[in-house]
Amino acid sequence: MKNGIQVAIDGPASAGKSTVAKLVAKRFKYVYCDTGAMYRVVTLAALEKGIAPDDTDQISRLAQQISISFAPGDPEQQVFLDGREVTTAIRQAEIDQNVSAVAAIPAVRREMTNQQRTIASQGGIVMDGRDIGTTVLPDAPVKIFMVATAYERARRRYVENKAKGIATASLADLQKEIELRDQKDSSRKVSPLVQAPDAVRLDTTDLTIDQVVDRISVIIKKTLNELR
Ligand code: CDP
Ligand code: CDP
Repeated sequence: MKNGIQVAIDGPASAGKSTVAKLVAKRFKYVYCDTGAMYRVVTLAALEKGIAPDDTDQISRLAQQISISFAPGDPEQQVFLDGREVTTAIRQAEIDQNVSAVAAIPAVRREMTNQQRTIASQGGIVMDGRDIGTTVLPDAPVKIFMVATAYERARRRYVENKAKGIATASLADLQKEIELRDQKDSSRKVSPLVQAPDAVRLDTTDLTIDQVVDRISVIIKKTLNELR
């Protein structure tokens, strides 16, 4: 509490979690942790080594061997795999298509969850993902479940890809990929994407980024006052 509280932000693909989480962390001077990037790094490492996404034994071992790290960057936090920068590489369509299979492997989730809890143990943290409020940080005093319509989420990702120069599928195909990934993430056995009973549901379809950041900030301030 002295160094801040834990803020867990979960929700489906492209709901605005990481953009908003980063800004909230900046506002409160908390650490930001993008847990999706960690599963993406494991997926990239597997694909680079020619390991099939369904080879659970090899991928489980790989997840324990590789080193995943972050460094602050503006506008984007930098992501590293064994010291090599992979910030853009983990956003490729090939990673989008394979990450849910890798993230469904129980040993991979155990390893990532342990690493995420270590990162969160240092004080004020804003962590975004799929299972933060339910599994990684179940005692987080602030839990947000962020949603938006599938069309709006695909539209946002399309605009983002274009702006970043990332090769993008059509809007319709992006929506299909996002819906398929949500379905896989929600139906897996271990830590599925599901709203924690004590999370605040926030529909961002018609909200700007600043409006979402403001709403979450109000919730954090209220919680900080209650805990005082
Ligand atoms: O940015 P986007 O919403 O597309 O996805 P992400 O947050 O980068 O997460 C990529 C994938 O990692 C998700 O589709 C999940 O399969 C997995 N993931 C997970 O299983 N648990 C988390 N805490 C975070 C991500
Ligand atoms: O982390 P997640 O996959 O949930 O989403 P994101 O990568 O933060 O957001 C996807 C895109 O939507 C980004 O380009 C954001 O700038 C945009 N966005 C938006 O237009 N309006 C919001 N209220 C939130 C995000």
